[in-house]
Amino acid sequence: MTLWSASDLRTATGGVGGADASGVSIDTRTLAPGDLFVALVGESDGHRYVADALARGAACAMVHAEVPGLGDDARLLRVADTLKGLADLGRFARGRFGGKVAAITGSVGKTTAKAMLARILAAHGTTHAAVASYNNHWGLPLTLARMAPDAAYAVVEIGMNHAGEVAPLAHLARPHVALITSIAPVHIGYLGSLEAIADEKGSIFSGLGPGGVAIIPAEAPHARRLRAAAGGHQVLTFGSGAEADAVLLASGSDAGGVRLRARVLGVEIETDLAAPGAHMAMNAVAAMLAAGALGIAPRDAAAALCGFAPVRGRGERRVLRARGGEALLLDESYNASAPSVRAALAVLALQKATRRVAVLGDMLELGEAGPEEHLSLVPDIARDADRLHACGRLMRLVYDAVPERLRGAWAEDSDALAPQVAADLRAGDAVLVKGSLGSRMARIVAALEEAAA
Ligand SMILES: Nc1ncnc2c1ncn2[C@@H]1O[C@H](COP(=O)(O)OP(=O)(O)OP(=O)(O)O)[C@@H](O)[C@H]1O
Ligand SMILES: [Mg+2]
Repeated sequence: MTLWSASDLRTATGGVGGADASGVSIDTRTLAPGDLFVALVGESDGHRYVADALARGAACAMVHAEVPGLGDDARLLRVADTLKGLADLGRFARGRFGGKVAAITGSVGKTTAKAMLARILAAHGTTHAAVASYNNHWGLPLTLARMAPDAAYAVVEIGMNHAGEVAPLAHLARPHVALITSIAPVHIGYLGSLEAIADEKGSIFSGLGPGGVAIIPAEAPHARRLRAAAGGHQVLTFGSGAEADAVLLASGSDAGGVRLRARVLGVEIETDLAAPGAHMAMNAVAAMLAAGALGIAPRDAAAALCGFAPVRGRGERRVLRARGGEALLLDESYNASAPSVRAALAVLALQKATRRVAVLGDMLELGEAGPEEHLSLVPDIARDADRLHACGRLMRLVYDAVPERLRGAWAEDSDALAPQVAADLRAGDAVLVKGSLGSRMARIVAALEEAAA
């Protein structure tokens, strides 16, 4: 089915050429036949992959430079700048979209809340949602560019590393509902202070149109600044205090999930998630409130959330075969910040296991706050884990500070640590693997899975 007609591609971008396309891709490894391939220039130059994309069946390729070796009849959409061209597609796609848009930002929990909200909305109408964490200057426009004009809902994620990144993305998305999941010292190395982080997240509300709704975590640091950032828009809050519009009344986790009771827009609901932890319960409350702001009854939202399981790399549970039995892997290799490591350790503590093993890699992008943020985890590790393997220079501080009985292996990086973690695996272990993406903890997950195979 045509998502982009050649003429819409030209109108949106002011470009020349083009052909009807059924999807949009920026990566030949995941390109589907019929896609428009956008040659972005990043760490590598997408123009190098144009011939490959066309050979794989791309409908056409958006380019801003000459691509040597292509025939005169190559299917190209020529623009001045492909990154701007992608943003133009996003803007055009948003403009023609007839459904409701929800945008989510926050220090932690964006992708999880996005998946929860998308699950609720999908029970009521066709729902388009961002892939993975596509939340930056190319991820958000790509998400919008892929949106079918006639879907009922779209849920997008907006992220940031540096000040000033959220507002332009919010203006592109023009959400009906904008949700901030949490405010915490994540990426503080770039932003400098928690206040600056709150202001940056709050700028998502500048993208709201008339009638837009701002959703705020009531108990977050600087919640007042967030409220101010919402300006004249309606503000709804979620939290544990009775005054919030969505209140988490009670939650109880076991190893496999959490049962929660909440009051959302005056309606009491209960539901069970297949993801343990009070943080998951709070994300669910936020997602139900956002759904409520889009007109979905809290009872329907709660029913749709029942059975929700974590997203890959963010708490996914897998059984490993170990010598003489089985072990449990909690794969949190996708990312890490102090609040999310704390939440994951609390989940590790819930596991019925002979040993609760934490395998932690550095949390990155913390700047001067790095050592303190890392050391703040020591009491949690001592309480929730029986054993710590660690890698990276910041985790070295933690490794040296935990009680000696916990100390397993430490190594410079995850490559060096992986074989030691795999060799230490015992039947009955529950193993949590967590670190920033840049710490490459997925290698440890892979080593454990290889050892178990
Ligand atoms: N409310 C929360 N409080 C603490 N930790 C959370 C919360 N929600 C999710 N997490 C944990 O934080 C980690 C990241 O979750 P998620 O991917 O949903 O966040 P994100 O904001 O999308 O991250 P990114 O900035 O990498 O896109 C996971 O380990 C997840 O379990
Ligand atoms: Mg994300």
